[in-house]
Amino acid sequence: MNPLNVLLQSRVAQGPIPAAEVMALALYHPEHGYYRRQTSPWGFDGKDYYTALDLGPLLGQTLALRLEAAWERLGRPVTFTALEPGAGRGWLGRDVLNAISGPFAEALVYIHRDDNPAARRAAEAALAPFLTENRARFSAENEPIEPFVGAVFSNELFDALPAQPWRWDGEGWTREVLTAGGPEWQAADPAEARAWFSSQTDGLQARDGSIWCEALPNLVQELAAPLAAGLFLTVDYGETADRLLAKGADLRRFKAHSVDGKWHEDLGEADLTADVDFTRLATLLEDEGLSDLSHMELSKWIRTHAPLDQWGAEWMALPDAERKARTENLLQLTLPNMLGSRFRVLEGWKGKKD
Ligand SMILES: C[S@@+](CC[C@H](N)C(=O)[O-])C[C@H]1O[C@@H](n2cnc3c(N)ncnc32)[C@H](O)[C@@H]1O
Repeated sequence: MNPLNVLLQSRVAQGPIPAAEVMALALYHPEHGYYRRQTSPWGFDGKDYYTALDLGPLLGQTLALRLEAAWERLGRPVTFTALEPGAGRGWLGRDVLNAISGPFAEALVYIHRDDNPAARRAAEAALAPFLTENRARFSAENEPIEPFVGAVFSNELFDALPAQPWRWDGEGWTREVLTAGGPEWQAADPAEARAWFSSQTDGLQARDGSIWCEALPNLVQELAAPLAAGLFLTVDYGETADRLLAKGADLRRFKAHSVDGKWHEDLGEADLTADVDFTRLATLLEDEGLSDLSHMELSKWIRTHAPLDQWGAEWMALPDAERKARTENLLQLTLPNMLGSRFRVLEGWKGKKD
């Protein structure tokens, strides 16, 4: 039997468990958690889900340009630290490092920060040449981050934090819990979340709801406080606070490339994600001294920042199969209803204004 279910059975016999606690156990139990497993759940074949990085290098190539622009804005510092929390297999870092050249490449030091053991092994392979040249290194999640100049960037980090769904039933707040009979919505006090939800809406309708991520403030502070100056950029699932409230956000389970709401099944063997509240994320970053905060759909961000004319010309020189792969990568990132329309990119700046 699934070891996490055994653990939960004895706990649930004593009372309902909030969905956020189930998600924490399912993803981060030190031995059986989905992100603490020894085998990798990513990719296309026989795996649970793929990310923008499985589609090709274009996200990393566009990010590389945003990082280089940040380096210029900072006055071309000798060392530009690019910290990636939740770096997984290190593919985004690899794609960035492959895309840069010249003085910027000499300045950039990439730091992979993620305790996921299966991902770490994949990252050691993906980053091998850069590790040898001291252009990349690993950092454990509990390693203090010294103040630095450069950038913090992430892909699908915040949607992997344990999160609690709340719903307004017309008279009071309910939260999703796991009981011995299965998941239920039970009346409860949303405490701190209540003030946030009500500040984001003029009037709640029954079944409006949202996600409250308890760990968000601490993680934002841990990552943004050491950034002395530079760019904070994050790519993630999610919406603005008012849209989340109207949508009634839930937890999602990814398993074998299908997605559903069965967050309490196959614990430790399926990925669980929650929408990120981009309004709250931006507010927390503002509290950490970031400015110029904005976020947009990934598809728009690519169309805004990728040098499409230049790519088009360069791709003409590629062999057919590679040109086709790049074109598909671009379409997935930019067409409506494809991956690029399901993600948002948030950018913020720390340090002196232009
Ligand atoms: C959905 S995966 C994304 C991996 C990778 N960025 C990608 O796009 O393929 C989320 C990752 O975040 C990591 N993670 C969760 N909390 C973290 C934290 N506080 N610091 C660093 N990594 C964290 C998990 O271990 C997991 O590998």
